[in-house]
Amino acid sequence: MSNRTYRIAPSILSADFGHLADELRKVIAAGADWIHFDVMDNHYVPNLSFGPMVCEALRKHAVRADGTKVPIDVHLMVEPVDALALAFAGAGADHILFHPSASEHVDRTLQLIRGAGCSAGLVFNPAAPLDVLAWTIDQLDVVLVMSVNPGFGGQSFIPGSLKKIEAIRKLIDQSGRDIRLEVDGGIKADNIRAVADAGADTFVAGSAIFGHENYKQVIDAMRDALA
Ligand code: DX5
Ligand code: ZN
Repeated sequence: MSNRTYRIAPSILSADFGHLADELRKVIAAGADWIHFDVMDNHYVPNLSFGPMVCEALRKHAVRADGTKVPIDVHLMVEPVDALALAFAGAGADHILFHPSASEHVDRTLQLIRGAGCSAGLVFNPAAPLDVLAWTIDQLDVVLVMSVNPGFGGQSFIPGSLKKIEAIRKLIDQSGRDIRLEVDGGIKADNIRAVADAGADTFVAGSAIFGHENYKQVIDAMRDALA
């Protein structure tokens, strides 16, 4: 199990799109560590969300009361990846994560993201193999495990993801590198502990946080469960 600090990354996919800047400020005041930004293209996944212009508009609002920046964690569910990855780097994204199955040349895409000054990550769908990790782990800052099939918020956690998290935790520990192990989909206060015990250290949560009236209550309950 990891002994690192845990991070909670609310997904603004479940926020009120009519008031995104306010939602960002509220969830940051409630204790968000990162802002998770789900980009869907109606091609790689059957849904359409928002692009680099929205990221750029929100960048200045992703700031804590003390003036420190809150990292924007961009999860690209798009195919192809490269041009949009660069557009998000230009739009102020801090982390850019993509699905290896969506890029023809995964190594090149990782080089592009890191070359643009962003942290880079790979995302693994529930049925995706992990072999690419053997050849890319030296270039990764984040590995994101999907615990639902990508495309929609509000789905139920797929229990088989725990085995995948355990397997990736081993690979990360063997690599000796400082890589975040993030999990995305169906995370709630009542399952976050089991996900952490499997080896995750960073937790995306959309509907659990934005579907509740009091964001701080949910984030606090998650941190209590992790403590
Ligand atoms: C799904 C997205 C997730 C999603 C999580 O494609 O990648 O980030 O918003 O939402 P919840 O927490 O509601 O499962
Ligand atoms: Zn996501």
